[in-house]
Amino acid sequence: MNIENSNNIGIVGTGFYVPEKVLTNFDLERIVDTTDEWIRTRTGINERRIANEEEAASDLASKAGLKALKNTNTNPKEIDLLIIATLSPDHFMPSTACITQHKLGLKNAACFDLSAACSGFVYSLFAAESIMKNSNYNTAMIIGTEIFSKIVDWKDRNTCVLFGDGAGAIIIKKGQKGKNIISINFGSDGSSADLLEIPAGGSRLPTTYRTIDKRQHYLKMEGRKIYKLAKKMMVDSVIRALDKVELTRKDIDLLIPHQANIRILKAVAKKLHLPLEKIMINLEKYGNTSAASIPIALDEAVSQGKIKKGDIVVLTAFGAGLTWGAIVIRW
Ligand code: UT7
Repeated sequence: MNIENSNNIGIVGTGFYVPEKVLTNFDLERIVDTTDEWIRTRTGINERRIANEEEAASDLASKAGLKALKNTNTNPKEIDLLIIATLSPDHFMPSTACITQHKLGLKNAACFDLSAACSGFVYSLFAAESIMKNSNYNTAMIIGTEIFSKIVDWKDRNTCVLFGDGAGAIIIKKGQKGKNIISINFGSDGSSADLLEIPAGGSRLPTTYRTIDKRQHYLKMEGRKIYKLAKKMMVDSVIRALDKVELTRKDIDLLIPHQANIRILKAVAKKLHLPLEKIMINLEKYGNTSAASIPIALDEAVSQGKIKKGDIVVLTAFGAGLTWGAIVIRW
C-alpha cells in the first residue's frame, strides 16, 4: 500500500509537560537495592520526573495540551477529536480523554482513550489521522500521558528505576503542506501478553485484599525477554513502513524512538546503520515515560532545531500487548 501524498493532514505543533519533582538515581539508592552506576550503564537513565500526590494523568495531559494549543495558536473550540494514549488513566471510567477535554475546554471534541501501552501514542496518531480522513473533522489533538510512579512497585528494583511521569501533545490539522504521515506499519502479538502486565484490578483478577497483599496491582515485567524483542519489533516496523513508500533507512533524517533503554536505542541505530546523531535520545532526563515518550521527544527535537522542512522523520515504538509500530513523516 503506497499512501504517500494521499492526504493533506499535517502536524501543526506540539507541547509537553513533565512534573517539577526530579528523582535521581542517587535518590533511588535510598529506596531500593540499586546503584546509580547500575541504572546508568544498564539503561542510560540519570533521573526521571515524579508527579505529586494530587496529580493524575489528565492533569499532566491538560498541561501538555495547553502548551500545544498556545504553541499553535489554536482555539480550544477548534479541536474536533481528542485521543489520549495512556496505561495509567485517572480511572477505568470515564476516559482520561473526557476529563482532559473538560479541563481544556475542548467543547466540540469527540474524545476517547486508546490502550496500546508504550506504542499508544503512535497508534493514536494514526487513528486520529484515519478518522479525520473519513470524517468532517478538521483538527485533532493526540496526547500521550503517564503517571507510572503510581503503578510501579517501589519495592521492585527491576521496574521502579526505569519509568518516569510526563505528557506530550500534538495537534494535527487538515489543509497542511508538509509534516504529513506518508507511511505506517503496525503490529501486535497477544501471545506474549504476560511479559508486561498489571495482573490485578481488572475483570480477570478483581481487586480483593488478597490481590493487594500479593502486590498484583503493580506493573510486572520480564525485562530481559522484552529487551530481546524490542530491537526486532522497532527495526522491522521501520523498514516495512519505509519500504511501502520506496524509502530506505538511508533516507531517515531523524528517528524518534520510544525511550526505553539506551542499549536498545543503540542496537536499533546499529541495525539501521544510523549514526547516533540521527536518533533522538532524551531518556537520561525523563526515563521511560511510556506513551508520553515519543511526543515529548518530538517536541524537544523540534525546539532544539533537529528537524528541518522536507526531512524524513520516523517515529517508532514497542510495548506491552505486545504492540509495535512505525510512522514515517515528511516534515
Ligand atoms: O517500555 C516498555 C518495554 N520495556 C522495556 O523496554 C524494558 C526492556 N528491558 C530492559 O530495558 C532491560 O532488560 C532492563 C533494564 C529491565 C534490565 O537490564 P538487563 O541487562 O536485561 O538486566 P537483567 O534483567 O538481566 O538483570 C541483571 C542483573 C540481575 O541480577 P543477577 O540475577 O544477575 O544477580 C538483576 O537482579 O541485574 C539485577 N538488577 C539490578 N541490579 C541493581 C535488576 N534491576 C536492578 C537494579 N539495580 N535496579
